[in-house]
Amino acid sequence: MRIAIASDHAAVALKADLREYLIELGHEVADLGPDSADSVDYPDYGYKLASVIADGTAERGVALCGTGLGISMAVNRNPACRCAVVSEQLSAYFSRDHNDANVIAMGARMIGIEQAKACLRTFLETPFGGDRHARRVGKLSHPPVSETA
Ligand code: RB5
Repeated sequence: MRIAIASDHAAVALKADLREYLIELGHEVADLGPDSADSVDYPDYGYKLASVIADGTAERGVALCGTGLGISMAVNRNPACRCAVVSEQLSAYFSRDHNDANVIAMGARMIGIEQAKACLRTFLETPFGGDRHARRVGKLSHPPVSETA
């Protein structure tokens, strides 16, 4: 798969480890940065990741920050993205089976490398369940327009 990976400064080390892991698994990986642990703002990298999912350059994304929360919020601002914050495999499994997640978010301060690899692998290997879930997932791309907007 074509997979894009991005983080903030809190997760550059985890990003490097997971990038190598993805390459070992045979995936094509685009590392969207950052390249150092200098302080950056997670929305900038979350938006960058979301844009390559939205334009089809990447099929899946991996979003990392200290908790996984901030960068997932940024990614999910793009309606093409379904980003799930995960810290154990069962959530990684259901993020695919029920929600057809196309981006996984994890927190470098919340999860160890072996657990992160296990979650990532589950995220990559679990198919979408489709059926009743497809109708619900479809609605995520079309949020109702506020009548007061
Ligand atoms: C950066 O210190 C931290 O706030 C960020 O990595 C992330 O945890 C935000 O959600």
